[in-house]
Amino acid sequence: MSFEDPRILELREIREKAKQGGGKDRINKQHAKGKNTSRERVRDLLDPGTFNELEPFITSHNDESTIDTEKFLGDGVVTGYGQIDGRTVYVYAQDFTVLGGTLSEMQSHKICRVMDLALRNGTPCIGLLDSGGARIQEGVKALGGYAEIFRRNAQFSGVIPQISVMLGPCAGGAAYSPALQDMIVMVEKKSFMFLTGPEVIKAVTGEVIDAESLGGSDVHMAISGVAHLSAHDEQQALNLVRRFLSYLPSNNIENPPFKSIYEDTPAKENTLNSIVPMDPSEPYVMHQVIEQVADKDSFLEIQPAWARNAIVGLARIGGYSVGIVAQEPSVLAGVIDIDASDKMTRFVRMCDCFNIPLVTFVDSPGFLPGIAQEHSGIIRHGAKLLYAYSEATVPKITIITRKAYGGAYVVMSSKYLGTDMTFAWPSAEIAVMGAEGAVNILYKKQIEESDKPAEESKRLAEEYRKKFNNPYMAASNGYIDDIIEPRETRSKIFAALSALKDKYAPAPPRKHGNIPV
Ligand code: HXC
Repeated sequence: MSFEDPRILELREIREKAKQGGGKDRINKQHAKGKNTSRERVRDLLDPGTFNELEPFITSHNDESTIDTEKFLGDGVVTGYGQIDGRTVYVYAQDFTVLGGTLSEMQSHKICRVMDLALRNGTPCIGLLDSGGARIQEGVKALGGYAEIFRRNAQFSGVIPQISVMLGPCAGGAAYSPALQDMIVMVEKKSFMFLTGPEVIKAVTGEVIDAESLGGSDVHMAISGVAHLSAHDEQQALNLVRRFLSYLPSNNIENPPFKSIYEDTPAKENTLNSIVPMDPSEPYVMHQVIEQVADKDSFLEIQPAWARNAIVGLARIGGYSVGIVAQEPSVLAGVIDIDASDKMTRFVRMCDCFNIPLVTFVDSPGFLPGIAQEHSGIIRHGAKLLYAYSEATVPKITIITRKAYGGAYVVMSSKYLGTDMTFAWPSAEIAVMGAEGAVNILYKKQIEESDKPAEESKRLAEEYRKKFNNPYMAASNGYIDDIIEPRETRSKIFAALSALKDKYAPAPPRKHGNIPV
């Protein structure tokens, strides 16, 4: 019979207890809801066998300022580090089986600990959230705990990637910390985000709504723009995190990973030459352009259901990680409205933080006219996009595929906002505005005084079109670096990315800018 040291047996026993979180019954309840436990989630996120847990023995502190609660080893959050595709990441996973995954002073201490380690080591930090928010029993200690996390979220922003996966109800502070991070992934029908839940809303405003309609993934993906990606189930959500990270460096000093999978696809590219219809009012699908220019299956669209007139997403071109920003002319003609401005701005800034070159495809008739847009501050929101592109120091490449009218020309990474390479397709139309609008302003009197005003207006519009609705006028004035055949787009972007890979464009020293928010 072999002797086992009782101290080691005790350690094993305590560790086993910690693994049980809130106990078997609550774990069964969690599974019955189609949700995994925090440990199962960490296992499913990381490369197999790479997780190392930290501080599993921590418990909550009860004192005169708190309401006594049962103590659980780990205090409702599993923290530690492991690897994704061989790169180190730090993780925290809230355990809903322990007091609803709520945030206490000690849970906050554990989360801040892995955040600090992630910063010090220049690695991403990933939160798997499933929480009722601030733990009511802990009062101000729980609120202070959130403040500690929020401060770190803000200060670490742009230094290390911060990602939140919403895997259950996430109320109050459990919604605000993700909102300060780079990426929010939700799970359909399983995760909810709101500051105040349906009960509180009913009590305060009298409005009646269920959790899904208030803050489910459909709401945050399509209406509020709070979430970036959504998944059918937990595993798909965790896979999306792994995929998202594959485009990003571990921190703001490194370059994104280069994946050497360059394969020329001339046959496919040839179809680009016929994608833009001859009739400028006929739409085409910009997603198809992106699919044909990017490496096969590499485009990961972000916020695909919100502000669909704008497209943002990560992709690879010839192995280089790039951020793609574009208009979708088949949705609202690719017009830029408030939501589209916000969507593109945030994405441009994220790419710039993490040294991801920006590739911009332009086809937009301009900013959306209208009283509602003006009164809601489209000036302020559009200014953000100008600010973001002007401020970005990563390689910037622009391709004007068709309309680049007025503000849309300027704001969409135009040459003198500091864009490195600006290309136009022969179908590009670069002008202050469309022909009809322009002639009605320029030649109002002449048209009114004409015997046949309609015909006169048409004739003048045709003249205007001949002069401005092409890229040659802009190119002859130096506003376009080259006019290219659409089928050359991929190779031109690849060549530009190679030529710009050592770009050095330091910004003037300052504390920080004052972006219009
Ligand atoms: C303490 C809580 C809790 C909380 C839930 N629990 N929320 N304990 N503080 N805030 C506990 C429950 O008592 C229960 O314990 C367990 O967690 C599971 O909760 P259930 O209600 O049984 O689960 P479910 O029906 O799935 O509902 C989950 C929920 C709901 C939607 C999260 O519990 C809820 O609405 N909670 C309150 C959410 C909230 O308003 N939080 C405060 C936000 S304010 P047992 O022992 O039975 O397992 C905030 C301030 C931050 O966060 C400020 C930031 C700016």
